[in-house]
This record gives sequence, structure tokens and C-alpha cells, in this order.
Amino acid sequence: MNVGIPRELRAGENRIAISPETVKKLKKKGLNVLVQKGAGSSAHFKDEDFQSAGAQLVSAEQAFGSEIVFKVHKPTVPEISMMKKGSLLLSMMEPFQLDGTLEKLAQAGIDALGMEVIPRTSRAQSMDALSSQANIAGYRAVLEAAAQYGRFFPLMMTSAGSAKPAKLIVLGAGVAGLQAIATAKRLGAQVEAYDVRAEVKEQILSLGAKFIDLNLGEEGSGAGGYAKELSAEAKTKQQALLTERLTKADVIITTANIPGRKAPTLVTEEAVKAMRDGSVIIDMAAASGGNCPLTEADRVVIKHGVKIVGIMNYPSLVATDSSNFYSQNLYHLLSLLIVEKAGQATLEVNLQDDIIDASLMVYNGAVRFPKPQTKTN
Ligand code: NAI
Repeated sequence: MNVGIPRELRAGENRIAISPETVKKLKKKGLNVLVQKGAGSSAHFKDEDFQSAGAQLVSAEQAFGSEIVFKVHKPTVPEISMMKKGSLLLSMMEPFQLDGTLEKLAQAGIDALGMEVIPRTSRAQSMDALSSQANIAGYRAVLEAAAQYGRFFPLMMTSAGSAKPAKLIVLGAGVAGLQAIATAKRLGAQVEAYDVRAEVKEQILSLGAKFIDLNLGEEGSGAGGYAKELSAEAKTKQQALLTERLTKADVIITTANIPGRKAPTLVTEEAVKAMRDGSVIIDMAAASGGNCPLTEADRVVIKHGVKIVGIMNYPSLVATDSSNFYSQNLYHLLSLLIVEKAGQATLEVNLQDDIIDASLMVYNGAVRFPKPQTKTN
């Protein structure tokens, strides 16, 4: 059975859905690995690296024509047309965009597992691509902030004078936010963080940051480790209380997110106006509308003297490690579906397995998303 890995064609994407390390693991499971020639070059994996790990180098048609296809981004219409009926796709699917991709896959008889809908449970941790990529993104976003900020992050005492440490606030302390806090602390910034879920307070404190307690009088915890949307009254209160704090920050990193919803506005224009000239906002939620209304997707803009960074694909900027982690996530998910029968690796879809049931978005010609049990709040 062949696992095909084509080149990612989306603009700005440097990742590939396989690494030489993962090729070796798939080979051990008795699978053939077909990597499109040159597909790993922007992640700094050479064709020879894949070959020495045991992969065959092939054309795009051959990679897409495999029984199993690994991708980073959901396939386009021309890509779907190269895929075989009865094949299985493992990919990020951007399910909340509702652009008809799932229906097209169903019509083509292709089964698809979506990496975004893997449950956040202990057993699924090794498959959780949203977490592996958000972790990298949180790290890279802080490096971006440090590069964009015209001053030091740490306290600097030199013979030519001293500089104060940067005051950095992280909004949303999920996967990306916690990594951002840890990275900013390592760079010597003074870090404060805020989240609507009260349970993350301990994690924020354990990273050495201060917790901003707004006392909204409303609990923000939703299902599956995600937040739920606040009431209109709590949102207004939150914005007002935050604005006061945010105006004192030199750098703000925003990561507040509720799956499937527009990102909540946490940094208002009023807050931006009151920030010091030269301050930086890194809006990691740019792809879902932004946590600041002034953010522009995939652009760096200066508004009221403040630099606002709307980069939407930080993992691509750390492409080697991101590809490595992502391909490990795919490998672990695929391992749930591969059984050995008469010495042969065989695909078996067990819908009784909660991870497969949750992540299988297209099966046997039918779209299985959104499911009644898929909670987005
Ligand atoms: P997550 O769900 O683990 O964390 C989001 C956090 O925001 C949660 O802790 C949640 O409680 C908090 N939150 C939700 N509403 C809030 C509110 N009103 N006030 C304060 N906190 C609130 O998500 P993850 O994986 O950490 O991703 C965070 C964001 O970063 C998402 O928007 C995601 O799409 C984005 N992201 C961006 C990347 C990029 O390259 N720009 C890459 C990866 C993720």
C-alpha cells in the first residue's frame, strides 16, 4: 500500500507533510512511501534524505494517486481530480470555512480525516496537529515581536547606559499563548497573561508570568479544553477592563480563539491609540478575524504609531520542525487505521474508536461534519 506526499502549493507554505524520520516509521509498518520530487526543499529536506530513508521520488500525479495521501492543506479541485476513488486523505481541512471541499471529496469517493477535529484528549495527544503547530507558532510569534520591537526585551545594563525590560501581555493562554509566555520569559521580558478560562491561571503562574484577573463574573470554560463565547455584557466589561491594562504594554501577543467563531475583539482601537509609539501587537488570530479590529491579514501595518502584525502562518517560518512534528501527528493517526493481515499492511476504519469517529470528516461518499456532538462553544 502506498502513502503519497505531494508538494504543498499554497502561497507562502514551506512545510511538507512528511519528514525523512517519518518515512522510516511508515516503512517499518510495511507501507511504501512516495514523495513528490522536490517537495521537501522549502522545509530543507533534500530528495536524497527521503531516498535514503526508503522513499521513492515520484511525480505529483503518482503521489496524489496513492491509496493514502498526506497533506498539510486541504486539496484544491485539480488536486482532488488526481486522487483515486477509495483513497484516504489525512490533512488539515479548515472545516469551518464551509467551502465545499468536503462535498467534493465525498463525490470523488475519497475518505478524509481532518487534523483540526482530533479531540484534545490524552490518548490523542500525539496526533494533535493543532497543538503541535500552535506551539511552534507561539514561539515564532514572540521572535517576530522581538524583531519588530525597536527596543530590548530583557533588562540591559551596559557601560553605555541601561534599558528597561519590555512589558509584554499575552491574551489567551491556550497552546500558542502558553508557549508565547515561556518564550518571552526566556528572552527576559516582563510577562503578564490573561485568559477567560480560570483553570489556566496555575499554568501562567508556573511559567513565571503574572495572571491578569479581570473578575468578569462569568466563567469562560467550554467543552474539550476550549473557551465558550462570553455574553455581550461580559464582552463589553472585558474590553473596558483590558483596555486600561493594555495601554501600559510595550508588546501584546493575542491568541484568543473559540473554534469555529470569529475571534473575540480584545484590543480595541481605543487601546491601540493609547499605546506608546513603537509598541507592537502580534495578532495570532488574524486568520479568524483578529483579536484587534485594526489587524490586516498577512500584513504588518502601523496604526496610531503601533506596529500590528497579522502573519497567518508562523509554522511555515519554522518549516523543518513544523513538518517534522506534523508528520509525526499524521503517522500516529494513521497507525490507528493500519492493521497487519497475512503479513500485509491493511487499512481498517474502526468507527468505534473515538479519535477516528471524531476526525473522519468524509467516509463512504458522505460528509460527516459537523456532527451533532461537535461542540463549538
Ligand atoms: P487554544 O484554543 O488552545 O487557545 C485559545 C485560548 O484563547 C484559550 O485558552 C481560550 O480560553 C482563550 N480565549 C478565548 N476567548 C477568550 C477571550 N474572550 N478572552 C481571553 N481569552 C480567550 O488555541 P491555540 O491553538 O493556542 O491557537 C490560538 C490562536 O492562534 C488561534 O486563533 C489559532 O488559529 C491561532 N494560530 C495562529 C497561527 C499563526 O501562524 N498565525 C498558528 C497556530 C495558531
